[in-house]
Amino acid sequence: MTNNNIYFIANWKMYGDLSSLNSIKKVISLKKQKKFKKAKIVYCPPNIIVNEFIKYTKYTNISVGSQDCYFIDGTGPYTGNISAYQLKKLGVNYVIAGHSEKRLDGDTDKLINKKVLNILSNNLHVILCIGESLKDKKNKKTLSVIRKQLSTCLKEVKKSHKIIIAYEPIWSIGSGIIPSPKELDKTIKYIKQFLSKKFKNNKSKILYGGSVNQKNINILKNTKGINGFLIGGASQTSNKFIDIIKKTIN
Ligand code: 13P
Repeated sequence: MTNNNIYFIANWKMYGDLSSLNSIKKVISLKKQKKFKKAKIVYCPPNIIVNEFIKYTKYTNISVGSQDCYFIDGTGPYTGNISAYQLKKLGVNYVIAGHSEKRLDGDTDKLINKKVLNILSNNLHVILCIGESLKDKKNKKTLSVIRKQLSTCLKEVKKSHKIIIAYEPIWSIGSGIIPSPKELDKTIKYIKQFLSKKFKNNKSKILYGGSVNQKNINILKNTKGINGFLIGGASQTSNKFIDIIKKTIN
């Protein structure tokens, strides 16, 4: 873990409604404490409540993100889709791209690259998710899969300061299983090397995601070179989310 800001990004996936706003009250008060100044908290709720989250967190230091955007930017006749441009106008600061659950819907690295470019051209932070499947892991292909994802998804990207890479092994998401410290160190080191080679003055950040919870956080927080966590299930209950933040920053 680095000594700078530490990200705690809550990916609420397809959970939550207006009543969920209540559950972030406690997180807002936690964030007000000086001790948690370096905790960068970002909520990515479903788009139906993004606007309410923006209003609710307006005078706090908590940011709001979206879980995805369309691969075409601006506005147009694209039923059911939302562009990075529209999210920017709404007041969103972060957008996730390439989550493995969106890859299951058909998002390819090439398509994700278009989303990444749109997100960055709107001056938003992109949270780019990468990670190997269980099969890749068993075939010892973790690093080559990651290299391919990074090089295609970041094609034509020139600046790194708004890039957050979330390493989320697919087999770890929602399973309660996390990589061993040795495995994780090796993969994070590889990602860091890739980014340092790609960007001259590399300012990108790296997060870990996949079954982060109040128990394993004590192990995960010791991972070298990471700047925080992308958290699914455990971020939807404020007590669990707070516990994770407190145990990381103590
Ligand atoms: P879980 O924390 O529920 O495993 O989800 C991780 C994730 O997919 C965050 O984007």
